[in-house]
Amino acid sequence: MSELVRDVRAALADRGEPVSKLGYFCAPFRPASGPLSDHVIKTYRGGRDPELLEQLARRHEQYVNCLTQAGVRVPHTRFVLINEAGFLRPVIVQKALPEATLLRPMLMQADTASAIALLDRAAGSIADFWQAVAQRPERIGYHPSIRNFAMDADGPVFFDTFPPLIGYSRADMGRLLLRFSESGLIRGVGSVFPERIRAIQDEWYSPAGTIVGLIGSAVRLRPDDRDALLDWGRGFAESRLKTALRDEVIAELARPPRLPAAWTTMRRVLGLEGRPNV
Ligand SMILES: Nc1ncnc2c1ncn2[C@@H]1O[C@H](COP(=O)(O)OP(=O)(O)O)[C@@H](O)[C@H]1O
Ligand SMILES: [Mg+2]
Repeated sequence: MSELVRDVRAALADRGEPVSKLGYFCAPFRPASGPLSDHVIKTYRGGRDPELLEQLARRHEQYVNCLTQAGVRVPHTRFVLINEAGFLRPVIVQKALPEATLLRPMLMQADTASAIALLDRAAGSIADFWQAVAQRPERIGYHPSIRNFAMDADGPVFFDTFPPLIGYSRADMGRLLLRFSESGLIRGVGSVFPERIRAIQDEWYSPAGTIVGLIGSAVRLRPDDRDALLDWGRGFAESRLKTALRDEVIAELARPPRLPAAWTTMRRVLGLEGRPNV
C-alpha cells in the first residue's frame, strides 16, 4: 500500500469538518492533523466497476497534465483508488488553497473595479486555455466557473479536476455525470431523463459557453453591477477574442445570460435554489 493511500485511509477514518458543502460531486474536507493537513481530500462515489474507475484514474492524470500543459495553474493534485474489499473509492488529494484566495468570496467583497479586474484575469486565462488546446485531437472540456477558481498574486488557479474532461464522448460523459452524482434523486431522475443530465456538460465543452458562463455568474453574484459587468464582458470579447468566438460571445451577451435550463432544474432538485451556483 502506498504512503499516500495509507495517509488517505487515516484521514478518512479521522474525518474533520468539510471545507465546503457546495460541490456537486463531493464535499471536500481538510484533515485537522496528520501528513495531509495542508491538503483537501475529495471523495467520490465508489463502486465495484474497476474498469470504469481505472480508466477514470488514467483520464484524471491526463487531464491534470493537459491543463498544466495548456498553462492553467492547478494545485498539486493526486488521484487514488482506495480499495475497501473490492469496493473502489476514488479520492482526490489536493494541496489546500488559502481561503482568502478563493475567487467567489473575493468577488463578493471587492469593489466594482477590483471585481472586474479579477474577472478579466480569469476570463483571459480561460481564453488562453481554449487557444492552447484547440489543436488537440481529444474531446476536451473545461469548467472554469467562479467557484472553481482561486486567485493569488500570480493570477488564476483552477482546482476542480473532476470529472476529468478529456477523452470522453458526450454520451460517456453523460453516464459519468450520473454515476458520480452524490444525489440519489438526480441519479433516479437522470436514469429516466438521461438527456437532462447529459446537457449539463455542454457549456463545459464550448469556449463561448465557458466565457459567457463566467460573465453570467458574475452578474448573478453582483446584480447591482450588471451593466458594468456586461460592458466589461463585451469589451473583453472585442479586445481578447478572435472572429467566431468573439462574435458568439457578443451575441450571447446581447441577451441577459441565464443559467442553462438543466442547471436550474438541477439546483431546484438539489435544494440549492437561491444560492447562485457559480
Ligand atoms: N484545493 C482547495 N483548497 C481550498 N478549497 C477547496 C479546494 N478544492 C475545493 N475547495 C472548496 O470546495 C468546493 C468544491 O470543490 P470542487 O473541487 O470544485 O468540487 P465539485 O466538483 O464538487 O464542484 C470549492 O468550490 C471550494 O470552495
Ligand atoms: Mg466545483
